[in-house]
Amino acid sequence: MSKNIANWEKAKREGKKLAFITAYDFPSARLAEEAGLDGILIGDSVGMMIAGQPDTLRVSLEQMVYHTTIVARAVKTPLVMSDLPFGSFEESPAQAFAASAKLIKAGADIVKLEGGAPMVETVKFLSARAIPVCAHIGLTPQHIKQLGGFKRQGKTQEAASKLFEDAIALAEAGARMLLMEAIPSDLATEISRRLEIPTIGIGAGPGTDAQILVMHDVLGLNPDRAPPFARAYVNGAAVLRDALAQYAKEVRSKIFPE
Ligand code: KIV
Repeated sequence: MSKNIANWEKAKREGKKLAFITAYDFPSARLAEEAGLDGILIGDSVGMMIAGQPDTLRVSLEQMVYHTTIVARAVKTPLVMSDLPFGSFEESPAQAFAASAKLIKAGADIVKLEGGAPMVETVKFLSARAIPVCAHIGLTPQHIKQLGGFKRQGKTQEAASKLFEDAIALAEAGARMLLMEAIPSDLATEISRRLEIPTIGIGAGPGTDAQILVMHDVLGLNPDRAPPFARAYVNGAAVLRDALAQYAKEVRSKIFPE
């Protein structure tokens, strides 16, 4: 899929499903492109997947710029989306613009920010200033202290209506994509039908226009910490552990090097 976001809107109109994945480094981003993924997210999940942190709150803008530069260098075709990390954008639209510009200069095609109604003004400000924005609602991991953990959202009628209204307001403010995490499938489907912009789901059922998963979950590298909605397509941890054990064994038994 093209880096041109207008083509993603066209794909939505044509009913084509698109696949996103996270990547944080050069070889995995290249693998994702070779595998034909449509979009790559440099998520702030980098803090959990790469640095072993318990949440995404400690990730800095400088770290996001660093990983965005690496991923953008590795790929040509997929859309490159980069997360605005916690503390880099919430204070004011101007702060969000300064942070977004750094990610765009690092190679991002679009930035993602977490938050519903309170972010409408910021989305409007960025959209009017050449920054394509993906808004992220539902389970927003940067809000876990307020949410009380990594919990599914939109479970009551009231909470679902609020998410629905937020989605419309963010799209009207100029968001080019909407990511919905860990919300009921029927709600995500209804929002996707109502909006013209492409929606991306994670733990939100099959009714969104695109899906996203964290690469470490897809590759089975994270079996102890994978969320319930993820799917591992290979037991990567076992495959890699066996390869490492084989290497160590061959060194000790003088098989390698020959
Ligand atoms: O940071 C991330 O990887 C994300 C995805 C879980 C959507 O935001």
